[in-house]
Amino acid sequence: MAIPRETVEQILQAARIEEVVGEFVTLKKRGSNLWGNCPFHNEKTPSFSVNPARNIFKCFGCGKAGDSAKFLMEHEHFTYPEALRYLAKKYNIKIEEKQQTAEEIMQQSIREKMFNINEFADKYFVDTLWNTEEGKTIGLEYFRERGYFDPIIEKFHLGYNPDSAHWDAFTEHAKKNGYSEELLEQIGLSIKGSKGLYDRYHGRVMFPIHSLTGRVIGFGGRILVNDKKSPKYQNSPESEIYDKKQTLYGIYFAKNAIARQDECILVEGYFDVLRMHQIGIENVVASSGTSLTMEQIRLVKRYTKNITMLYDGDAAGVHAALRGTDMILSEGMNVRVVVLPPEHDPDTFGKEFSVDYVSNYLKENAKDFIRFKTELLLKDAENDPIKRGQVIRDIVETISVIPDSIFRITYVKECSRLLDMPEQTLTNELNKILRAKLKKSLGVEGEAIPEPETTTPKQEETVEDQLPAGYYQERDLVRLLLMFGKEMITEERLDENEEKVYEQVSVAQLIIDELKMDGIVFTNVVNKKIFDIFDKALDEGYIPDDQVFTSNEDETIAQLAADLLFSPYKLDQWNKYSIYVTQEENNLRATVLSSLYRYKDLIIEERRKAVEEELKNTTDAADQMILLKQKKELDDIRKQINKELGIVIAK
Ligand code: CTP
Ligand code: MN
Repeated sequence: MAIPRETVEQILQAARIEEVVGEFVTLKKRGSNLWGNCPFHNEKTPSFSVNPARNIFKCFGCGKAGDSAKFLMEHEHFTYPEALRYLAKKYNIKIEEKQQTAEEIMQQSIREKMFNINEFADKYFVDTLWNTEEGKTIGLEYFRERGYFDPIIEKFHLGYNPDSAHWDAFTEHAKKNGYSEELLEQIGLSIKGSKGLYDRYHGRVMFPIHSLTGRVIGFGGRILVNDKKSPKYQNSPESEIYDKKQTLYGIYFAKNAIARQDECILVEGYFDVLRMHQIGIENVVASSGTSLTMEQIRLVKRYTKNITMLYDGDAAGVHAALRGTDMILSEGMNVRVVVLPPEHDPDTFGKEFSVDYVSNYLKENAKDFIRFKTELLLKDAENDPIKRGQVIRDIVETISVIPDSIFRITYVKECSRLLDMPEQTLTNELNKILRAKLKKSLGVEGEAIPEPETTTPKQEETVEDQLPAGYYQERDLVRLLLMFGKEMITEERLDENEEKVYEQVSVAQLIIDELKMDGIVFTNVVNKKIFDIFDKALDEGYIPDDQVFTSNEDETIAQLAADLLFSPYKLDQWNKYSIYVTQEENNLRATVLSSLYRYKDLIIEERRKAVEEELKNTTDAADQMILLKQKKELDDIRKQINKELGIVIAK
């Protein structure tokens, strides 16, 4: 149910950041801000700051920052609506939910009934496992035989469904307790046969599947006998409360550890999750044998951006590791792969070795996914040039799904080394794919969007002398606007009391303001157009998306934007002109400021030269006075710029 927009605004205005954060973090006042130890990373000296005036928080250590809702989403792993509801409750703001329809009420009660019967079944299976002869000798013995200890069997509510003569022990028990046949069949605990309802899981050990909040939404049951006709696992069918593609086995037990360790280990099966937990590795969930879905990935993303896939050492396991991974990358998450020794799955591996050995193995064998894939495919291709070509396309295809251009550049470099291939060749291939995607997203497939000018750097070198001052610097500022316009950086300044205060400012705002302050206008027409779009948008209070430029109706804008956003090769050329692009995402503030100051310095120097020129040609004393004063002013600005630049670079 959506919360009305006005209510959202009302909630966010009412929320006081210091009060919201204060419930979780001890804050002390220092200057105009409050400080405390960051709850998102380990630290001994406080670098976590709350700014009551701007109603935001920011950690200068790990970089997390935002408003009250953002804090709750990070700290409590709430979704945005959950955070808003929490705040509404705290500040006594009533959320006008829209009236539920009769049908919605019906649906609601069906869901409740389903949760109820699952809970009933869960209790029954657990009770049967521990307290009946059949349960103990068959079910419990099975788990113990496989090396599982009682605490883990209890924690995961493992159970047993008896194997009675008519296969209906559970179904009869449920019916006696007032549950309808219809519900039993709907939820999938029972199946309708020619002689009536029987237990779906008869003679199987039971794994309840828990939702994020710990409610039982489904079951998996493992067969205990060798029977070629029955599948090894029986699982609940989908229902109003069980959506397979949104579910990860073990998430309820793993979520805190995932957040704490900022990593999620992904395995395939129920037993793999159990084993890892038993040896003390708790940030583990299972995809339950199927390919990952986007929904499952987003579920993990609520807790961490780092996924480690832990797969069997056999060929099938390695192959499974390749599936689903592009999807994780396209969510901007980091993927690593650990392949176990042949013959092992996480369950057997954890049984055979000590926890230290397993932890170490994970640490030492976790391989960045793109490197993993490259090496794997390369091994297959050997020296077959046709296969090698396919490998390159395959790898570049994978790189192309990564949303962050900086990471794409890093991977191109790395793969160029691994594949022993010129970087430019990979970049060209990558650009081709990105262009095709762009065209597709713009709905202009088949139309000619010019290829990126891979020869441009050479041309630029030869015409270098004719280029206006600051040509490369100007381009670089446009690139920073497009790539990082929305990123927030922290600016230091002194307030009325001469105290240092930190302010959050977007890269776009900073660049535009700084240039306007000195009346600097871009000389290149296209650069100027992009500047103007940013300027106008900022006036209206927003920062335009990439899409505004890459899909701009003005071809020259669209082309330049695509070029700047997609072409790492040019950046390399630009390094020659003292434009520092290495690791700029790590130190965005320094990148932006140094770029800005270098550009300003050049422009002011140009102006100073012009004034000097004029001075030479002037004999009028009054004019000379004015020009000298202008020259002095420009000198002062340059001094100031160079001082700032020195500070930025020194940092
Ligand atoms: N699975 C399933 N149905 C099957 C086989 C497998 O749902 N017929 C799912 C289960 O979630 C299982 C996972 O895929 O846990 C991995 O399958 P597999 O590796 O075959 O099973 P294990 O978990 O290793 O179980 P066991 O060790 O008991 O063989
Ligand atoms: Mn197994």
